[in-house]
Amino acid sequence: SKKAFIFDLDGVIVDTAKYHFLAWQKLAQELGIEFTPEHNEELKGVSRVRSLEIILGLGNLTATDEEKERWLIKKNQDYLSYIENMDEDEILPGVLPVLEYIRSQGHFIALGSASKNARPILEKVNIMPFFDAIVDGNDVTNAKPDPEVFVRAARLLGVTNENSIVFEDSVAGIQAANIAHMTSIGIGDPAILKEAHYHFKDFTFIEPSFIESLLN
Ligand code: G6P
Ligand code: MG
Repeated sequence: SKKAFIFDLDGVIVDTAKYHFLAWQKLAQELGIEFTPEHNEELKGVSRVRSLEIILGLGNLTATDEEKERWLIKKNQDYLSYIENMDEDEILPGVLPVLEYIRSQGHFIALGSASKNARPILEKVNIMPFFDAIVDGNDVTNAKPDPEVFVRAARLLGVTNENSIVFEDSVAGIQAANIAHMTSIGIGDPAILKEAHYHFKDFTFIEPSFIESLLN
């Protein structure tokens, strides 16, 4: 039966963490909060709203809902200006061959991302045509580690959770896949992806034979 290969976006297909960092840092600076690259690590896979709460927590700052709303809009405007010139050169090494291989074997490809900017980013890097289904931050109410985003993607394709395979760089995303009884593949630092069923430093280490081994 057909499998669903579900990809996270940020940190898996493209490295947008550096742009999120610049935009959050700009806001943090204006609020007088120290925000470091180490802090930024904790925001990977985390929703926009939750990210702001974490940053305010770093500065022991409380804010009204109106202030938060204003800062979230501002952060996203800055983020959009940073990603404006993204193109296909920003697709992470090894991703395209894996997408092509999965497609050549006749399996489904889906996106399962917390980002509300997922669609424009896929357009910019020119890989929209690979995706049979897209579920992003506009479609879900529960953030990872809740499996909603991945389960919705599988449902759209008519594939069971057990026949779904998730590529993720965040701990919360791996947990979400595991909770849904999907196969989880961690991409990135092995130390933080201990719960993944399989792990690769990046996509250049994923051989067709590995993908094939998942098909039985
Ligand atoms: C991904 C990223 C997070 C980001 C979230 C929301 O999960 O890893 O760092 O905060 O998406 O992204 P957005 O583009 O909607 O602000
Ligand atoms: Mg990610």
